[in-house]
Amino acid sequence: MKRYLLLLVGLSASCALTHRPTAEDEQYFLTQVKPVLQQHCLRCHAGTLPPPALNLSNRDTAFTRSASGQNYIQPGSPDRSLLITAIGRVGTHPKLMPQTDLSLTDDQIGVLREWIEDGAAWPAGPLGQLSPEATAEIP
Ligand code: HEC
Repeated sequence: MKRYLLLLVGLSASCALTHRPTAEDEQYFLTQVKPVLQQHCLRCHAGTLPPPALNLSNRDTAFTRSASGQNYIQPGSPDRSLLITAIGRVGTHPKLMPQTDLSLTDDQIGVLREWIEDGAAWPAGPLGQLSPEATAEIP
């Protein structure tokens, strides 16, 4: 019985590790998520910022933990992702993100939540490389 349980635990752990995002998941990241991050976050969260600061340049730098030990992005769990906490803060909270005059819209917050909920797919390679991008509102 004990051995059987161990086998089950082992199986589910390896499934979690080998879960591969679908092409559709990656497309959602590229068309919906990447533009929001590039236009609203990258000018501060990029470059050579070392951990524990959040560096959204690519998936390797983005999947880190804050100084307090919380994951910025916890695939499948938006409510346990510090990135979602930070953009959901209200009023004059000093760590309400983005730290600019222009807040994210509810739609943009919804996009980021849904992306993390669905596993936070983020392709490797050049497509998954993010850099700051100006918007009409923020030159
Ligand atoms: C104008 C610069 C700027 C922009 C734009 C910006 N941030 Fe930040 N962000 C900061 C700074 C500075 C800190 C560190 C704040 C501190 O620890 O006092 C920070 C901290 C954070 C943290 C950690 C919060 C915490 O509670 O420890 C998260 C998560 C975060 N930013 C996400 C984002 C996201 C997502 C965006 C885009 C929607 C964004 N930021 C846009 C400057 C910025």
